[in-house]
Amino acid sequence: MPETTTDPRFVVVANRLPVNRVTDADGGTSWQTAPGGLVTALEPLMREKGGAWIGWIGAPDEVVKPFRHDGYQIVPVELSEAEVEDYYEGFSNGTLWPLYHDAVAFPEYHREWWDAYKQVNKRFAEAAAASAGHGATVWVQDYQLQLVPAMLRELRPDLKIGFFLHIPFPPIELFEQIPWRRQIIEGLLGADLVGFQTPAGAQNFLRLVRKRTDNRVERYRVFVKDSHVCAARAYPISIDVQGFHDLAQSPEVKAESEALLEELGHPKNILLGVDRLDYTKGLRQRIRAVGELFASGQLDPDETVFLQVATPSREDVEQYRVLRDDIDLLVGRINSQVGGVGRPAISYRHAGFPRATMAAMYRIASVMLVTPLRDGMNLVAKEYIACHPGRAGALVLSEFAGAARELKRAYIVNPYDLDGLKETIIEALTDPYAERSKRWRAMQRQVWNHTIDDWANNFLRDLEGEPEPEPEPEPAEPEA
Ligand code: ADP
Ligand code: G6P
Repeated sequence: MPETTTDPRFVVVANRLPVNRVTDADGGTSWQTAPGGLVTALEPLMREKGGAWIGWIGAPDEVVKPFRHDGYQIVPVELSEAEVEDYYEGFSNGTLWPLYHDAVAFPEYHREWWDAYKQVNKRFAEAAAASAGHGATVWVQDYQLQLVPAMLRELRPDLKIGFFLHIPFPPIELFEQIPWRRQIIEGLLGADLVGFQTPAGAQNFLRLVRKRTDNRVERYRVFVKDSHVCAARAYPISIDVQGFHDLAQSPEVKAESEALLEELGHPKNILLGVDRLDYTKGLRQRIRAVGELFASGQLDPDETVFLQVATPSREDVEQYRVLRDDIDLLVGRINSQVGGVGRPAISYRHAGFPRATMAAMYRIASVMLVTPLRDGMNLVAKEYIACHPGRAGALVLSEFAGAARELKRAYIVNPYDLDGLKETIIEALTDPYAERSKRWRAMQRQVWNHTIDDWANNFLRDLEGEPEPEPEPEPAEPEA
């Protein structure tokens, strides 16, 4: 196990690497930084401290040697085709993802998925153990790697180990379904600090530890028997606010938003939805609600367009394929029934777009619809606030997104309540300027004062140093 002082002092372990492979003009391949807040926030720290990022390149059966990229080390972890099926599509996205999102889709339990999950987590833990310098900080990310903290502590007790869960941590009544629940709790407890998006997530975890282990728990600290103290607290993630703002102000993005307006026929109102095509995002309910508003004449397709973009995602998982077909059908049906002059009422684009195009869309959206059935945070809501110019954008936001805790002045909705959703969309569109701008200013203040850098710095300060004094207790806020 290499432990020289020149080895990385800061190691990130995530299912995906922060780079994409691109084919150059001459047919060769190179690596490009993948756009994303996490990468933007952590790259400077990686360069400063000497860092390594351990992750999967996103394709099966490929062996890529570790390489340097932008001043830090990239350490690819290989997954076989069977592991992609059982660990990634299976246990991560067929068991944990639906279960942790309130079981909005049916979570499946298969022993071979669990075996693959253990095996792959072990591989990531071994790669981290082999890369990290003595006493380094290792920060493990998300639900795909919940066993890594304990596995890594076993291999390298000298390390500071942090874990952050980007998705909700479910109420214990749901978590307890997992046949291997004890191993997952113990996996997470291997960390010195476990971060959650909301205080409710941290409370769910601590309740579970109290009920299912015999470790002593005092407020947010777990005294793991004969070992260490594991703290569990909320660190709501954010975005690179300045970066998004500057991008949206750039002449290129302004020109792109003009072109988009032209393409949409300069409608008076644009409703916008931007999501990964995922069943947690409430797309069926959202599209039905807007469709009914068009059908009843409350929205006039001559003056309003609903632009919905959906990035293809996890297409080899059955539930995602079903969703894709359902949405195609739903949009097709609505567009055949209602339509504006020369254009459909719903402009649906099933594709990923460059960040600049996203910023152009945020610029022109009169009302942004973020209505997930459950979401850890939802960064799209924050990106809209950073990008939309003027003082009176309007955000319709699900009460079940982590972001609703922070963006209290959004138009908050229960996405399951179709009538409520319809009323709120109309309210957001028609409220007087003064009301919209009051709400907008409050949301802008919140977003500008809590950036992705604050998130990373707060987490790492608590992991590496003494935790801040406990803030005033929050009122209990159960997640279900
Ligand atoms: P999740 O992490 O579940 O996908 P978030 O809203 O937190 O949900 O983050 C989604 C990220 O993906 C945002 O940064 C958003 O800009 C980006 N994104 C979503 N849809 C698209 C798209 N069609 N093209 C490009 N990026 C997208
Ligand atoms: C969510 C998860 C991430 C994941 C991302 C994209 O944001 O929290 O861990 O990387 O979705 O999903 P994918 O399965 O394509 O990595």
